[in-house]
Amino acid sequence: MKGTFPVERFKNLRTPFYYYDMNLLRRTLEEIRYQLKVLDWPAAQVHYAVKANHNPVILNHIARFGFGADCVSGGEVQAALQAGFDPKTIFYAGVGKADWEIQLGLDAGIGRFNVESTAELHVLAGLAAASGKVAPISLRVNPDVAAHTHKNITTGTAENKFGIHYSVLEDVIREAQSLPSIEFIGLHYHIGSQILDLEDFKNLCHRNNEIVHKLQAHGFAIKDINVGGGLGIEYNHPNRYLMADFAGYFQTYSDELNTNLPIHFELGRSIVAPCGSLISRVLYVKEGLEREFAILDAGMNDLMRPALYQAKHRIENLSSEEDLEPYDVVGPVCESSDVFGTQVMLNKCKRGDLIAIRSAGAYGESMASQYNCRPLAPSVFSEERA
Ligand code: LLP
Repeated sequence: MKGTFPVERFKNLRTPFYYYDMNLLRRTLEEIRYQLKVLDWPAAQVHYAVKANHNPVILNHIARFGFGADCVSGGEVQAALQAGFDPKTIFYAGVGKADWEIQLGLDAGIGRFNVESTAELHVLAGLAAASGKVAPISLRVNPDVAAHTHKNITTGTAENKFGIHYSVLEDVIREAQSLPSIEFIGLHYHIGSQILDLEDFKNLCHRNNEIVHKLQAHGFAIKDINVGGGLGIEYNHPNRYLMADFAGYFQTYSDELNTNLPIHFELGRSIVAPCGSLISRVLYVKEGLEREFAILDAGMNDLMRPALYQAKHRIENLSSEEDLEPYDVVGPVCESSDVFGTQVMLNKCKRGDLIAIRSAGAYGESMASQYNCRPLAPSVFSEERA
C-alpha cells in the first residue's frame, strides 16, 4: 500500500486504468446525507450529475444510495435508467435536446425536463401531446450570476448559451402554462463548476429570492427550485481534503434561500472526483536540455482536463520513496498540449514506476476519447466494491 492505493495489486495490471476507491465514494455519499440531516432538510434532494462519471458501477452505487440523476442527453437518461435510478428522480437538462431524446424521456416517465428555450418548449409540448402525456418542466433560468471559476466552465452569466434570461421569464412561464401537455413546476439554475467561493452560491440564492418573490407577487405558483451543482474540490491537496466542503455548501443554501420550497441539487464533481485516480506507468524518463520529462503511458485522451482547462491534478509516484525531483509529466499523444503538469515534484522516477493522477473521478473517464487510436482505459475498483 502507498497511501490508500493497493500498489501490489496494481503491479499485475496493464496501465493506464482508472482506479476507484469505493469506500471513499460511499463515505462521500454518507457525508452528504449526514449534512442534510444536520440541517434537518428532508425537502432537499440530490441528483447526481451523470456527466461527471457514467461508469455503470459508479452509477449503480449512487442509484442504490437513493440519489436522483441529472442527465444532459438521451444516452445519459438511458444509462441512469439502466443503473436503476427511479425515473421520477431523473431530471433532463440541456440546450439541444433532439426529438428522440425527448421522446425517450417521455416514454420513461422521467421526473423533469429542464427547458432552456421557448423553441424547445414547443417541441416538447408537441411530442408530449402526440404521446398523450403531460411533460413536467422547470425552466432553466440564466440568473446572470458570475461564478469565479475557469472561463470554460462558467454558465450563469448573461452572455452564455444556457437558460432563459430572468428578465423575460414571466412571458415564458405564461406560454408554458398555456400548453395543455406541459406542467410548469419550477425553476432551474446552474452557474458553473469547480466553484470554491461560497459567495457565488450565496449570490445565486439572492438572485433566486428576488426572482421567486417577484413571480409569486405576480401570481405565479412555483413548486420547487433546482440550484444545479458546481461545488468544487481541492485538487492540490487530495490527502488533506478528502471531500468537498458539503457542510459549508448546504449551510449556505439553507441560510440564504428564503423559501420553504423543495430544493434540488445537481452535484457531480464533488461526489465522484476524489474517489478516482488515473493510474499509469512511466514509459521513459527523458533528459531534456533544461528539464527532465516523465513520459507516461496515459495521455490527454484518457484525462482531458489539463489540456482543455489547464487543470492541475496532484501527481504522485507510487513506486518510489527516493528524493523529490522536478519533472514535466507528459503523455504519449502527438499534441504538445498532452501535458499533465510542468515542474511537478515527484519521488525520483524510473521506467515502470506507477504514477497516480489524483482527483480524476469526475470528468476523467467520462470525457476520455480514443484519439490516436488509443484504447479507452478500463476501470478498476477497490475491494470494497459493494
Ligand atoms: N447541472 C448542470 C446543469 C450542469 O451543467 C453541470 C455541469 C452540473 C449540474 C454538475 O456540475 P458539478 O457539480 O460537477 O460542478 N468538464 C468540466 C466540467 C463541466 C461541467 C458541466 N456542467 C471539467 O472537467 O471541469
